Amino acid sequence: MIYLDNAATSFPKPKQVIDAVAHYFNEIGGNPGRAAHAPAREAGRVIDRTRRSLANLLGNVEPSRILCTPSTTVALNLAFKGLLQAGDHVVTTSMEHNSVMRPLRGLQKLGISHSQIPCSPSGELDPSDIPPLIRPQTRLIALIHGSNVTGNLMPVSEVGKMAREHGILLLVDAAQAMGRIPIDPQESNIDLLAGPGHKGLLGPMGTGFLYVRPGLELEPLWEGGTGTYSESMEQPETWPERFESGTLNAPGLAGLAAGIAEVQKLGLEAIATHEQSLIESLAAGLSQLPGIILYGSPDKSSCTGTLSFNVQELDCSEVAHILDTAYAIAVRSGLHCAPAAHRTINTFPHGTVRASVGPYNTQEDIETLVHAVSEIIGFRSR
Ligand SMILES: Cc1ncc(COP(=O)(O)O)c(C=O)c1O
Repeated sequence: MIYLDNAATSFPKPKQVIDAVAHYFNEIGGNPGRAAHAPAREAGRVIDRTRRSLANLLGNVEPSRILCTPSTTVALNLAFKGLLQAGDHVVTTSMEHNSVMRPLRGLQKLGISHSQIPCSPSGELDPSDIPPLIRPQTRLIALIHGSNVTGNLMPVSEVGKMAREHGILLLVDAAQAMGRIPIDPQESNIDLLAGPGHKGLLGPMGTGFLYVRPGLELEPLWEGGTGTYSESMEQPETWPERFESGTLNAPGLAGLAAGIAEVQKLGLEAIATHEQSLIESLAAGLSQLPGIILYGSPDKSSCTGTLSFNVQELDCSEVAHILDTAYAIAVRSGLHCAPAAHRTINTFPHGTVRASVGPYNTQEDIETLVHAVSEIIGFRSR
């Protein structure tokens, strides 16, 4: 099987990740922070190690400002709902995933409004479209780092500079960028960053995080036992436990530390170059075929390892189904939880075929996909 759905979750996971999860279950087993015995202490060390690895990957930010969550979606909800108050206004883009769009839609009921910057039909953001949308009540800009539909990278640093100049916070959805390109929140003026453990960082599902810049206050969304200050009925003030009530996914986080170690061993720059060259080859190969429509920025030399396309007169789900059943190639079709992005690139409501690569895909995988698509087109035109 050729797996080309790494934007959904990365596969295969490195052996070290699987070993680390198994090691946790077989050799550690304790609940982090919940007792003084050795298994619980070791479990606590596992969580600390993972937190420090994430902090290190983000340009050595303060580890206590990395809050462990089960997914990017939960991290984004924590950011929006822990930060915003009635009367606040948010600026976002038309390329966002539903994990940004739906919380913002829900928050309208609480008197929190938002404006959407329309991106170009290739899904690109012109940062000069932001200032006209800023109001005195604008508290936050929420921006996708890399599109899960087109693979385009957004001008995050430029927007960060603009946000800082206007005294507005910047929240970045790094679901597709984390582990695929270098990110430095301090350098890019990012105040909050939500990311997954299970995509580019090669960790298990059920892992993710929210980074919150030091000095920025946030309300916890869930309260309860933290294993600390057990004498108090009040939620602790200290970070990160203020935001991490309940038992964490310690086995998953053990695996995530191993995934991050693998990413660091491969090197972020090398991963980015490899994935971008695969996407460039895919775009070049597909564009030679009759009836192919490619989406996103025409320049594929800078992207998140994702490419969307359609075959004229064929439904994207049919193409994906044939690739799966006749060629054992796993791609995703449809709207990719991002209907607004598909409206932007004029592919709503049908969507696109999306191929997304990971560090272990090869040029041969890409050639096989291009060949399969050429055969599908050939059969159809007979
Ligand atoms: C851009 C983007 N944001 C958010 C998410 C949600 O991520 P998670 O599955 O970790 O909640 C995804 C998932 O594909 C995504 O692509």
